[in-house]
Amino acid sequence: MPRDQARAIARAFLPARRWGSRYDYHYVQAKLRTDPLYAGVLATLRGTPWPVLDLGCGLGLLAHALRAGEQAQGYLGVDIDAAKIARATRAAQVAGLHDVRFTALDLAEALPAHAGSVALLDVLQYLPATRQQALLAEAATRLAPDAPLVIRTPLAGDHPRGRFTRIADRLGHLSGWMRTSPRDYPSREGLLATLASLGLQGECSPLYGNTPFNNWLVVARRQ
Ligand SMILES: C[S@@+](CC[C@H](N)C(=O)[O-])C[C@H]1O[C@@H](n2cnc3c(N)ncnc32)[C@H](O)[C@@H]1O
Repeated sequence: MPRDQARAIARAFLPARRWGSRYDYHYVQAKLRTDPLYAGVLATLRGTPWPVLDLGCGLGLLAHALRAGEQAQGYLGVDIDAAKIARATRAAQVAGLHDVRFTALDLAEALPAHAGSVALLDVLQYLPATRQQALLAEAATRLAPDAPLVIRTPLAGDHPRGRFTRIADRLGHLSGWMRTSPRDYPSREGLLATLASLGLQGECSPLYGNTPFNNWLVVARRQ
């Protein structure tokens, strides 16, 4: 994302008080400028009329990216980390994002009622493999006909990208940024087979850009 646009979004994450932490502000700016995630997801969602359910939404950057990209779909973000949800809610209010909501929720619980697109961005690896399958099955029931399930996930692999991703995820947890620790990295074949068993056809393409991560975009729709 261009520097000016990233900075404009990051401003909503500045602390309310002058001496408050500016960590989110700097993180958001760096994330938006360097990670091709949101451009890839926005390209998938562009022109789709359905609301978006963002599972494991973190600070809700997808909502900001959608509005910056002039996409007006309704948005509900859920995440297990109540502190992140509070910061996401405040930043969305500061930015004046319309039709954007957040709620704290463990993805091990039932998902909210929804009929539309579903996003699952950099979250799967924090769930055990069995829970990943259950979550994908539940997410599939929240899709409107023709609406996409948009997944970005690191895939399993014993190569430099795979190893870098695993170390970075572990450090993210040890540093306290991620409350949950990484559990299982799905394989490409396993993920596509799970989607197929749910009646979804998935397409897989790299989405790591110039980053050293092993991140892939999987877009699935009903067959
Ligand atoms: C790497 S962050 C990705 C955040 C966001 N999707 C993005 O792309 O900017 C992973 C997120 O998954 C959330 N998460 C991990 N386990 C979860 C669970 N069991 N239920 C809900 N959220 C979870 C974490 O709290 C964290 O915000």
